[in-house]
Amino acid sequence: MDFPPLSTKVIFAAGDREGAVQEAAQILREGGIVVVPTETVYGLAANALDGEAVAKIFKAKGRPQDNPLIVHIADASMLAGVAVVTSCGEKLMRAYWPGPISLVMHKGEQIPDIVTAGLSTVAVRMPEDVLVREIIRAAGVPVAAPSANLSGKPSPTNARHAFEDMGGRVPLIIDGGPCGVGVESTVVDVTGDVPVVLRPGAVTVEMITDVCGEARLHSGAAAGTPASPGMKYRHYAPDARVYVYHGDKKEVAKSIRYMYNLCKEKSVEAVVFCVDSCAGMYAGLPTITLGGDAAQVSAALFASLREADEAGYGAILFHYVEEMGLAVKNRIAKAAENKATAE
Ligand code: TXA
Ligand code: MG
Repeated sequence: MDFPPLSTKVIFAAGDREGAVQEAAQILREGGIVVVPTETVYGLAANALDGEAVAKIFKAKGRPQDNPLIVHIADASMLAGVAVVTSCGEKLMRAYWPGPISLVMHKGEQIPDIVTAGLSTVAVRMPEDVLVREIIRAAGVPVAAPSANLSGKPSPTNARHAFEDMGGRVPLIIDGGPCGVGVESTVVDVTGDVPVVLRPGAVTVEMITDVCGEARLHSGAAAGTPASPGMKYRHYAPDARVYVYHGDKKEVAKSIRYMYNLCKEKSVEAVVFCVDSCAGMYAGLPTITLGGDAAQVSAALFASLREADEAGYGAILFHYVEEMGLAVKNRIAKAAENKATAE
C-alpha cells in the first residue's frame, strides 16, 4: 500500500443523522474525502473546488487521471461557476433533478482541471438522496464523487461493500442503508443540439426524449466502444469470470447448463444469474435471482456480483433478458469484458 493506513469510522445515519451530516461536512470542508450514500451507488466525495482534495479521490480509488468525475450539488444555486447551463440541460434539470441523471455541460471557471480530467465540459448531478444533499449543503461546496469502489470493481450499493473497498483509505463512511436505484446515474451530454446518452441509467433515452424532443444513445453506450472517457476501462468486474447469454430462453438455458458442466470439469464453481421468471429453468444449479423488472434487477446487480465473489464462485453465467433494461445490459457487458486496465 502506498498510502498511510487510516482507521475508518462508519456512522449509521439512521441512528445519528445530524452527527453524520456534520462530521462528513467537516471533513469535506477541511479538504478530506468521505464515503457517502446516494440513491444510485455509494460515492467517494471531496470538495469539487479544491484540486488537492480531489487528488485524494484518484489516489484512494486507484483511478486513472484521465477519467473525469461527476460534481454533485445540493440545489440549483450551486451551479454558478460550476457549469454553463444549456436550454436542454435546464429542461432535464426541471424534469429529473433531484435524481439519477448527470448532465455534461460546459465547465464553469470554479472547477479545477483535475475534476474534469482537463476536458472543457463537466458532468453535474443533483442526487435524489436527501441525506447526501444535507451533507453537501452543510459543507457549503459542490462535491466531486465517483463511485466508492476500487477501480474496476462493482460500485458499492451498501455501506458494507463500500467498507470492503475503502476501509483503511478514508476516515469516514456514512451508512445510509442500501441504494434504491443500484446502478450509476445516466450520463447525458447536453452541450449539442441533440442530447447524447453516454452511460445508460435509470433515466432512459425515452424519458430524455419526452423532455427535449429528441435524444440518442451514443453508439458505444450499450456496450463496446468508449462513449465517455471512463467507458474505455474495465468496470464493474467481480473476481469471478462473467459470461453473458442472451437469446431464445430455452436455448440460453441449454447453453448455460452446458457451460456450467464445463466449468465443473475444470473445478470452477459457477452460479447462474437470472430474473425471477427464469429461475425455474435452472433447477439443481446454484442460482441468484435478481428480481422481476429493470428496477429490481438494477437494485440487486452490484451487490449480487460481490456476493458471488464472497461465496467463492469462480464463474457467473448471466442470463440476460430485455426486461432487465439497457443500464443492466451495459454494466454486465462491461463486467464480462476481458480488459486489463481498470477504471
Ligand atoms: O450515480 C453516479 O453517477 C455515481 C454517484 C456516486 O453519484 N457516480 C459515478 O461516478 O458513477 P463515476 O466517476 O464512477 O462515473 C462517472 C462517469 C464516468 O464514466 C466518466 O467518464 C463520466 O461520468 N464523465 C464525467 N465527466 C464527464 C464529462 N465531462 N464528459 C463525459 N463523461 C464524463
Ligand atoms: Mg464508477
